[in-house]
Amino acid sequence: MSSHLDAVNARFDPRAQAYLSSTVHAAGPDLQCARELLAGLDPRPTRALDLGTGAGHLAYALAEVADEVIAFDASESMLEVVRRTAAERGLGGLRVQAGDVHDLPFADSSFELVATRYSAHHWTKLEKAMAELRRVLRPGGHLLVIDLEGSEQALVDTHLQCIELLRDTSHVRNRTRTQWLGLLQGLGMELLHEQRWPTRLQFEAWVQRMRTPETMVRAIRELMQGAPREVREALRVEPDGSFTPSTGLWWARRPA
Ligand SMILES: C[S@@+](CC[C@H](N)C(=O)[O-])C[C@H]1O[C@@H](n2cnc3c(N)ncnc32)[C@H](O)[C@@H]1O
Repeated sequence: MSSHLDAVNARFDPRAQAYLSSTVHAAGPDLQCARELLAGLDPRPTRALDLGTGAGHLAYALAEVADEVIAFDASESMLEVVRRTAAERGLGGLRVQAGDVHDLPFADSSFELVATRYSAHHWTKLEKAMAELRRVLRPGGHLLVIDLEGSEQALVDTHLQCIELLRDTSHVRNRTRTQWLGLLQGLGMELLHEQRWPTRLQFEAWVQRMRTPETMVRAIRELMQGAPREVREALRVEPDGSFTPSTGLWWARRPA
């Protein structure tokens, strides 16, 4: 029987190129905010790590400030896209490494900056992965987390997680803001900045990016169309199925 990480690879490997051109991933106010936070770092970080780098959009931003960046992902195809794009952009300090975020192949305290964007909702053991992330972060180092948020309303959240899973069977869970803050506090991280944005997901592009099978697409449409008013309003469901959850960003420091 295959593992969840096999499912992640099966879903993402064939879609690597689509993630490079996806507008949700290649741009967005969260990426702009990340750039501003990174630009304010003094001193500049020497080594930075991007976990679940996908097609590398956050890693390219890290490479603007750090001497050495490791773009880390379970999917070899994603890493191939990052390797090629980094070479095209002349980002000599960026290199790629394959592996699982739950078991990082790095020494304690080996990075001044650890970041992750739109990947944590695939991690099966978030607490374990976050403990790993803290372990490899140097005391005084910075942590950046960006992900689509779960809803604090149980009814809305159940619908959101359900459509996410139907669209992509490697989905695990979008954590709520409360869960993220609890996790960061439990790790003893000092929160420096927090922000959230509405993130519109255009239905056709959203399912095509993952090559969601037609049966699943129909199930998502049925679920959305039949969803109660509270859910439709909270997720801003549109007639064509497009909807608008929130992206959250947390910028924190490991105390020195
Ligand atoms: C949506 S993509 C990431 C988007 C990217 N970070 C960006 O900013 O555009 C999610 C990535 O997380 C990776 N991933 C999921 N679970 C993982 C795990 N346990 N270990 C390593 N990578 C993982 C997937 O392979 C995929 O490339």
